[in-house]
Amino acid sequence: RRRIFSGVKPSGHLTLGNYLGAVRRWAQEDQHRADALFCVVDLHALTVEHDPARVRRLTRQAATLLLASGLDPEHCTLFVQSHVDEHARLSYLMECTATDGEMRRMIQYKEKAAREQARGRSVRLSLLTYPALMAADILVYGTHEVPVGEDQTQHVELARDLAQRFNQRYGPVFTVPRATNPKVSARVMDLQDPTSKMGKSHAETAGIVYLLDEPDVVRKKIMRAVTDSGTEVRYDRTGQPGVANLLDVLASCTDGKPEVLAGEFASYGELKRATAEAVLELLRPLQARHAELCADPSYVDGVLRAGAERARDLARPRVNEAYAAVGLLPPA
Ligand code: TYM
Repeated sequence: RRRIFSGVKPSGHLTLGNYLGAVRRWAQEDQHRADALFCVVDLHALTVEHDPARVRRLTRQAATLLLASGLDPEHCTLFVQSHVDEHARLSYLMECTATDGEMRRMIQYKEKAAREQARGRSVRLSLLTYPALMAADILVYGTHEVPVGEDQTQHVELARDLAQRFNQRYGPVFTVPRATNPKVSARVMDLQDPTSKMGKSHAETAGIVYLLDEPDVVRKKIMRAVTDSGTEVRYDRTGQPGVANLLDVLASCTDGKPEVLAGEFASYGELKRATAEAVLELLRPLQARHAELCADPSYVDGVLRAGAERARDLARPRVNEAYAAVGLLPPA
């Protein structure tokens, strides 16, 4: 059976970008067509300055939101990264396979390192080695497919290179994975700055719709979205990035086509109203289910415990095999 792995980092509240770019597909398609594992990757949240209590809270919240989004423990495995030691064990071998140069070429590293420095903070070494841990997350399960938004594709391609290199040097231990992106909404843009990605850890929040935002807040953020000069609603990602982003979001929420939807609106205001309503319709059941799950924390704990147990059983033999393959003496 094909194996799918993907993850979300608890470095902020989950956004509409996370949902439309990744999580929705995990719930509606991936868990039903393959052996799918989904992970709250808490170790990755330690790569920039963090508040321990907040990371703990966000980890639980992310897991709860994934369940509220429709991940079903009957159909997939949901767990927390730090509960499965094998990720960190394999990450070290990935650091021994990757080069300093290829890590430094990662776009996300360059952007995030610059952002940390602009805030007067030092750059943690783990920010640089982040893709080695991410490669380990993927490779440890013999993953075939990694459903992600566009911003993670470069990291998955690196995991692919590392798998190939490792196999060539030490023998065929790893499956070579590939990234898959959604057709629409592979890159949801910030509503206030439609040339940059809607990202959960950005400091300015007016352009970010969080999955747990109140309806009024969602409406306000979308109605105040930056649009382009002009009045005509056209789908033009480079010429009219703000309008195109709203059309993408609306298309993604309603299963439509952005080019077709563009013809249905006479003004930006109309487009915004329709987009806000479509987003609210999407969030309503998700928020209701989230509230129910919050009332039953032992259910969430149980799911995560069982998920980690299964993940460990899957991961351990492959890490042991990789350790032996590189020449480490197996314990007697
Ligand atoms: P993270 O937590 O930033 O995002 C989780 C998923 O949401 C997608 N995404 C978006 N898609 C479209 N538009 C956006 N604005 C948007 N923002 C986020 C991301 O592409 C991602 O699929 N490094 C990863 C987490 C990770 C991982 C892994 C993923 C760690 N190990 C192994 C896959 C496999 C990250 O920070 O995702």
